[in-house]
Amino acid sequence: MSNDFEPIIVAFLCNWCTYTGADLAGTSRIQYPPNVRIIRLMCSGAVDPVYVLKALLDGADGVLIGGCGPGDCHYQTGNYKARRRVAILKETLKQMGLEEDRLWLRWISASEGQLFADTVTEMTAAIRKMGPNPMKREWTV
Ligand code: FES
Repeated sequence: MSNDFEPIIVAFLCNWCTYTGADLAGTSRIQYPPNVRIIRLMCSGAVDPVYVLKALLDGADGVLIGGCGPGDCHYQTGNYKARRRVAILKETLKQMGLEEDRLWLRWISASEGQLFADTVTEMTAAIRKMGPNPMKREWTV
C-alpha cells in the first residue's frame, strides 16, 4: 500500500458540544491532522444513517460522529438515538464488506478542544493503517 495515503474523514458534529470543541481547538491553535471535513448539525441525533452511508459510498475513508456526553444532549435524548443508530450502522458496514471501525462515535464537550484534536489524530492514524475505503477500489476496476 502506498505510504502517501491520506484518509478523508467526514465528521458530523453537534453544534452545542463537539463542533464548539473543534472550534476551541482551532482558536487555541491546537494542531490536528487536516484530514477531517466537518459538517455541523444541531445534534448527533440529527445524523441520519443515510448521511453516513452516503459519505462512505461517495468515497470517505471514515466517518466521525461527535456529540454531547450522556445526560448533556441539548435535546435530551438525541445522543442516545445516535448511539443506537451507530450500533446498527456498524452491522450494516460489516455486511457491506467495510470495517466497522471506519465509523466512530465520540462524546466531546465544548470545553474539550484537546480531546477533539486527539480524537482526529487517533482516527486519522487508525484509518491510515486500515487503508483506503475498499469501495474506492471497486470504482477504479
Ligand atoms: Fe449535542 Fe444532542 S445536542 S448530542
